[in-house]
Amino acid sequence: MRIILTGYAGHMGREVRECAERTAGAEIVQGIDPFCETEDGICVRSFSACSREADVIIDFSHHSATRELTAFAAGRSLPLVLATTGQTEEEKALILEAAKKIPVFLAANYSLGIATLTDLVKRAAALYPDADIEIVEQHHNRKIDAPSGTALALFRAVQEVRPDAVAVTGRSGQGKRKPEDVGIHAIRMGNIVGVHEVLISTQNECISLKHQAFSRGVFAEGSLKAAAFLIGKEPGLYDMKDLLREGSGAEA
Ligand SMILES: NC(=O)c1ccc[n+]([C@@H]2O[C@H](COP(=O)([O-])OP(=O)(O)OC[C@H]3O[C@@H](n4cnc5c(N)ncnc54)[C@H](O)[C@@H]3O)[C@@H](O)[C@H]2O)c1
Repeated sequence: MRIILTGYAGHMGREVRECAERTAGAEIVQGIDPFCETEDGICVRSFSACSREADVIIDFSHHSATRELTAFAAGRSLPLVLATTGQTEEEKALILEAAKKIPVFLAANYSLGIATLTDLVKRAAALYPDADIEIVEQHHNRKIDAPSGTALALFRAVQEVRPDAVAVTGRSGQGKRKPEDVGIHAIRMGNIVGVHEVLISTQNECISLKHQAFSRGVFAEGSLKAAAFLIGKEPGLYDMKDLLREGSGAEA
């Protein structure tokens, strides 16, 4: 599996490179990153300078790259594993447009544990239709977007079983909590890899569902699995549910 890696010089870029070295059959043939400083002959600073043949693109860069990235991937008919978060509505529309031409894997979180948490949250929210639900996430102090893409994905999982749920980010000066509110709280400090906790509370009890990532390697590993999954697929949008389904051998 020949991979083009965008965001090559970043924290996640480094993790994906290390993980690819440990993964049989995986090879980073080209990196794209405007701040690329390595002299390994693989990294280039722009999409136009990317000349190598590849089977798939893995992207851990910045949402502002979305337009160029989707045009590049669609132009070269390359499957795209999109791991970057924080896209604007306009950028999300570009991703949907690209998915009509190429297979695009889109997940706010490439950890299998988060996929499991999302499933549990949905089930618990359905079992407790009147409970108050709040989402608390913690990340390192370099993270640009808040709340995290994963926290928003957890909110959408709640919304699947509570269509009237409303995301409330921050709660300053908003008065009393409304039953349909789902508070989403972002903590930014130190070097925290990623903690997501969903609290589901009635008047008499509280359930806490929590996932903690110990290392960024978990996201790199998941993105490589997604890349292997995506090669040869029809154009369209794919996510962790599809990967889990294929892994378990279950029917779609
Ligand atoms: N989906 C997931 O599981 C998951 C997990 C971790 C991080 N992320 C996301 O991945 C992204 C990167 O995270 P990070 O911690 O590595 O950030 P980082 O800032 O350490 O690295 C980002 C890299 O992207 C590069 N970059 C910026 N614009 C670019 C462009 N136009 N083309 C190519 N490269 C470009 C930067 O130079 C930098 O080296 C963030 O959006 C983050 O939220 C997603």
